[in-house]
Amino acid sequence: MPKPKIFVTRNIPQPALDRLEEVFDVSVHASGASLGREEFLRAVEDADALLCLLTDSIDKELLDAAPKLKCVSNLAVGYNNIDVRYATQKGIAVCNTPGVLTETTADLAWALLMACARRLVEADKYVRESRFDGWGPLLMLGVDVHGKTLGVIGMGRIGRAVARRAEGFGMRVLWFDPKADPGSMPPEYERTDLENLCLQADFISIHAPLTSDTRHLIGAQQFALMGPKTILVNTARGPIVDETALIKALQEKKIAAAGLDVYEREPEVPAELLALDNAVLLPHIGSASIETRTQMALMAAENAIAVINGQEPPARVN
Ligand code: DGY
Repeated sequence: MPKPKIFVTRNIPQPALDRLEEVFDVSVHASGASLGREEFLRAVEDADALLCLLTDSIDKELLDAAPKLKCVSNLAVGYNNIDVRYATQKGIAVCNTPGVLTETTADLAWALLMACARRLVEADKYVRESRFDGWGPLLMLGVDVHGKTLGVIGMGRIGRAVARRAEGFGMRVLWFDPKADPGSMPPEYERTDLENLCLQADFISIHAPLTSDTRHLIGAQQFALMGPKTILVNTARGPIVDETALIKALQEKKIAAAGLDVYEREPEVPAELLALDNAVLLPHIGSASIETRTQMALMAAENAIAVINGQEPPARVN
């Protein structure tokens, strides 16, 4: 019997490819160049499963181009790139990779928070430009992190992991998440509404999924509530923040700084953001550690294998 076919839209860690090979006839778009839409549509024509990235748009057209498809396995916890409703209508399982990237993404949110608070990127540039001519009482003054207030937007796994790290810094934790169960939260964390969080938090870290409810959740109105010392961190999805309003808030110093791993129209990063010293900018690397990306790829592989074998996959979203 021929093996079922899987199309993998980009090279992924080898252990996951090895695992897929045990079950599937694997075809990988391994070239460095991005996968063109026409090529993508052709590649799924005879695919039984698809292992894709958060940058691949899995819409009606793509799903219709793949009449044999039984599983879309996303190499990400977020799945806003997939038309889940249409996939469900067509009986296609949609899977993701929750859990394995929680701590790694929380680490990166903290790296951004610390980098903004203590101006690490500016300071590094200062040294590299040979401008460091000795210790100075007013040189590169940042703000303290310990003892301050952290506001977490979205208290799923990653939001909680970020909040847990704040305990080590003796911080007060505020959180906003209309969907989270307050009973499951440590009692010392204070539940609040978005307005109060924007008013009171020194650091705000976003960990919500991108949905129609969270698109532009943070915009001009929210920046107006924040103070000139507020630092915003976004490692979730770019469109949760109105980027035009953010740029204005940073330019006018309505907030102190922003640490961004994600952008509204990725991979486009507006020139205005690139020009700002009070923005730390990363290329969507929240989960990018060797260990975590390997775990994610293995989980995505196991998801596809389970669906093809008629079993319940480790993480199915529909
Ligand atoms: C995700 O998994 O959704 C992240 O954005 C990438 O790891």
